[in-house]
Amino acid sequence: MPESVVIIGAGQAGAQAVQSLRAEGFDGPITMVGDEAYPPYQRPPLSKAYLLGTFERPRLFLKADSYYAETGCELLLGTSAKAIHRAERTVELSDGRKLAYDKLLLTTGARVRKLKCPGADLPGIHYLKTIADVDGLQEAFQPGKRIAIVGGGYIGLEVAAVGAKRGLDVTVFEAMDRLMARAVSPQLSSFYAAEHEKAGVKLKLRTGVEAFEGNGKVERIIAGGQRYDTDIVLVGIGVVPCDELATHAGLASEDGIVVDQNARTGDPHIWAAGDCTRHVGREGHSLRLECVQNAIDQAKHAALAMVGKHKTYSEVPWFWSDQYDLKLQIAGLARPSDRLVLRGDPASRKFAVFHLRDGAVAAVEAVNAAPEYLMGKKWVGEGKKIAPQMLADTSVPMKQMA
Ligand code: NAI
Repeated sequence: MPESVVIIGAGQAGAQAVQSLRAEGFDGPITMVGDEAYPPYQRPPLSKAYLLGTFERPRLFLKADSYYAETGCELLLGTSAKAIHRAERTVELSDGRKLAYDKLLLTTGARVRKLKCPGADLPGIHYLKTIADVDGLQEAFQPGKRIAIVGGGYIGLEVAAVGAKRGLDVTVFEAMDRLMARAVSPQLSSFYAAEHEKAGVKLKLRTGVEAFEGNGKVERIIAGGQRYDTDIVLVGIGVVPCDELATHAGLASEDGIVVDQNARTGDPHIWAAGDCTRHVGREGHSLRLECVQNAIDQAKHAALAMVGKHKTYSEVPWFWSDQYDLKLQIAGLARPSDRLVLRGDPASRKFAVFHLRDGAVAAVEAVNAAPEYLMGKKWVGEGKKIAPQMLADTSVPMKQMA
């Protein structure tokens, strides 16, 4: 058992680590340092129901306020860690204090990638990562307003769906030739493009942003050589891992703090979990995952390893996105060379795309299709081989196929 644990980063992974450390019987002091004003909260609802106004702020918090005191975890909020002194095993804080640790966990997450074009600093240009970001957007996010969304990825499209639902005039500017290109197959991109257009969202694909203009606040976006008037801008062009603390302390980072199968860094006293990390995944490739699943599972593995129980991390990654009444659930990591098998009719708004690699299910993308997602995820874990004709045949229920 460690003597004391310090966790830097009060997010999903940090909260999970506290829970898992206690569940594994660690009863020593835990200190969690977070630079936001809030204790750990769920980020997924931020761009969905919280922005829509149907999800109250108290429900965002992962634990009750009393939890941290009850579990003996000291929370230092509104505080950032400035440096890790590995030789003396201390963390230097923004308030000048030094915290001693026996074992240290970095759950620093990722920060939004910022646009760097002319006018990018104008008021009225928003990003979405924190509670404060959404609260700062709400005042302007009103029916009848024009919103220009830069980035047709998860954030951009979830905000587009909420905006359309709330009666905003929404235009999405996406640099690539299809939506969510990083995350989904071309079939899903086309399906989601049609759904957004049906809801009145204007899509500008292959359209990079060149500049913003405005007098005291953003009034126009210049993209693809054209000027568009707008009231608000929301930028969702991806994230970068917060790895500076680690790299300044001499720990390896390759666009993500490098950790092993037990979430440990190159320093035997320091672990890292969640969006800030890079690890070798179950298929042998180096990965930086941006998802709740990885935050939770890696934190669990780190907690186990800290108390001397080592379990190899090889979970199947999973993701989800809510846009309109469409629940997209993805398990596994697809590759462009996979053979795609469509099950169900996209026109029915309930279907799945299975990705087969060497005959085995490597990933599944399911839209409003929970049985396909659940079974598909299990099959990805098992490397199950299955005949494409059978997969495509909706007259054979998923249960029967299993
Ligand atoms: P993303 O990587 O999903 O999408 C970024 C999009 O912006 C891409 O389509 C990219 O081609 C586009 N882009 C990049 N530069 C551009 C430019 N200059 N002009 C126009 N388009 C440009 O990242 P996103 O949406 O910002 O999400 C950030 C993080 O939040 C990710 O970690 C994501 O996984 C997470 N997230 C996950 C959700 C989910 O799983 N449902 C929901 C919301 C966010």
